[in-house]
Amino acid sequence: MTPTMMPKLQLDGVASTAIMTLRARAEEHRRRDRLFEDPWAETWLPCFEWPRSLDAWYGRYTQGFLAYRAYEIDQIALDFLDQIPNSEGTSAQIVELGAGLSSRGPRLIGAVTARAPLEAQDQSETASSAPTRRHLTFVDLDLPAIIDARRRLGVYTPAAEDTRESASSALPTHSGTDAHPYTQVAVECSVTDLAWIEHPALDPEVPTIFIAEGLFYYLPETDVRRILDALRDRFPNTAIVFDIIGMLEFRGARRFSTRAGAPIQWMLPPPFESVYPRFRLEPLPGWPPSRLLDRVLELCWSRFGRTPALLSRALANISVLRAQRSGIVAARLESRSTTS
Ligand SMILES: C[S@@+](CC[C@H](N)C(=O)[O-])C[C@H]1O[C@@H](n2cnc3c(N)ncnc32)[C@H](O)[C@@H]1O
Repeated sequence: MTPTMMPKLQLDGVASTAIMTLRARAEEHRRRDRLFEDPWAETWLPCFEWPRSLDAWYGRYTQGFLAYRAYEIDQIALDFLDQIPNSEGTSAQIVELGAGLSSRGPRLIGAVTARAPLEAQDQSETASSAPTRRHLTFVDLDLPAIIDARRRLGVYTPAAEDTRESASSALPTHSGTDAHPYTQVAVECSVTDLAWIEHPALDPEVPTIFIAEGLFYYLPETDVRRILDALRDRFPNTAIVFDIIGMLEFRGARRFSTRAGAPIQWMLPPPFESVYPRFRLEPLPGWPPSRLLDRVLELCWSRFGRTPALLSRALANISVLRAQRSGIVAARLESRSTTS
């Protein structure tokens, strides 16, 4: 049965928020000025019953921010992959905590496959071989209801689930060219049950980027600390990307999320940069908060029209407001030895 022939899937509570981000990406795909392609989101969205409890939360601005967030995290992940030496036999892991209905696996594979001809040109100056294809493993962690939905959508091939051998998504690749080898594995549990850290699909020796997109503020802050500490112990010098809610947005987001049955638990007190010492992080090279702020103004706010674009720039120049903003955090986890 193809995804569009299935009876509609329903998700409740915090799991239902994954339908909102899915919708934002599907609608982004249909825009003429889209930041990225997401045919997977477009195919998957009609498989879900839209939760009416998200009506008040979802609108033009939410769509734009969620799409920008997905795009920006893709860029950070691609940059992380670029930093890993691309020699024979190397691999990397991309672990999505609270993966929801993310299509990041095939999106990133599309991006690295599209880059391959350029790499081949570069290599032809020094060697005649085709570019080496680094093996990528995508690990999707979420609650059972979400992993079950992902399985129904056909995200995981039985071979990949049983043997963890290379598998391609059953859905179309970006470019339709031959796909890059990768493995996509599901881990079905709560992220707060830290036993997942020792899951056999996760190799602590392999360069890894953890992504928690739209997740941490749904958990108690103490759980976020526990997760980050467990990661720093098992995956030294790993990278993590997540987003946080600041004071400016907190009250509204809490009201809408409570209506949706998934109340946001905490906010970051100002200033924004305090997130690094608070969670024992350091900015990921190339992605300081100042650059991420410039980019959200340029890539996201500018799309809403002239007035919002000018207003957002003016507000970002007022230090007290800038300090209270929400945003993406791209970081390295400091090891315990450097922080104790
Ligand atoms: C807003 S959605 C984001 C989904 C995806 N990261 C994205 O950006 O499209 C939040 C996701 O976090 C998941 N989630 C919430 N609490 C969780 C927990 N304790 N353990 C694992 N996943 C959780 C939800 O099921 C949902 O899929």
